[in-house]
Amino acid sequence: MTLKIYKDHHQLSDTAAEEIIELVKQKPDAVICLASGETPRLTCRLLIKKVKEQQVDLSQCTFIGLDEWAGIPPSNEGSCHYFFQHELFEPLQFRSEQIHLFDALSANLEDECLKMDSAIFERGVIDLMIVGIGMNGHIGFNEPGVSFNNYSHVINLDETTVTVGQKYFKGGAVLKQGITLGLKHLQDAKKVLLLANGIKKAEVIKKAVEGVVTNSFPASIMQTHANGWVMADEEAASLLDKRNNYPA
Ligand code: PGA
Repeated sequence: MTLKIYKDHHQLSDTAAEEIIELVKQKPDAVICLASGETPRLTCRLLIKKVKEQQVDLSQCTFIGLDEWAGIPPSNEGSCHYFFQHELFEPLQFRSEQIHLFDALSANLEDECLKMDSAIFERGVIDLMIVGIGMNGHIGFNEPGVSFNNYSHVINLDETTVTVGQKYFKGGAVLKQGITLGLKHLQDAKKVLLLANGIKKAEVIKKAVEGVVTNSFPASIMQTHANGWVMADEEAASLLDKRNNYPA
């Protein structure tokens, strides 16, 4: 694992967007997995700007959505679908064949998991995975206690996720289950960027980077990834004891 510390959210997001651009320039048919949420929103916006300025062709790459709230329709602005549609797919004019998202309204969510896994396996592995970290250490909806060996799966949401998740929904939402890529996908991915900004993420970043590697705190799995980067801004990195031990 590599720790990278940035001045602020903008600098961090700019680097993450540049990682996508560089990958696609080298590998036009790259498989990219992205999270939704507050953290990666700026990465998406900067990516759009860079793609337009540098005229990068994204038409051959495959896009994988990390997770979705079970039972929440794509028209709901708190859904991950809605985020991707508005922050990425429409501005970048992605074709539907390029996109793989979980259908969280499906009557058979297990089948959705199999479909997602097949879509990834058919293309090999994920080249670049960009994720956030939850206030309970989750990645996607890999909640505390999850197996490190799962591929896509349906999971009962942790209390923290249900409470914190209300921030995405005007007027609130009933959140019970999530459908998510598993941590085995993360371990298989060629490169993983975990982004975190703001003082509210300082404690979880400390546990992820300096704590014990345990499924009680899923983001600690980053410590085991040879090409995993934890990218934190100054505030999110502020509680790290060993921050100076890591190369800038
Ligand atoms: P956030 O979500 O980017 O909105 O903070 C992170 C997460 O729960 O994974």
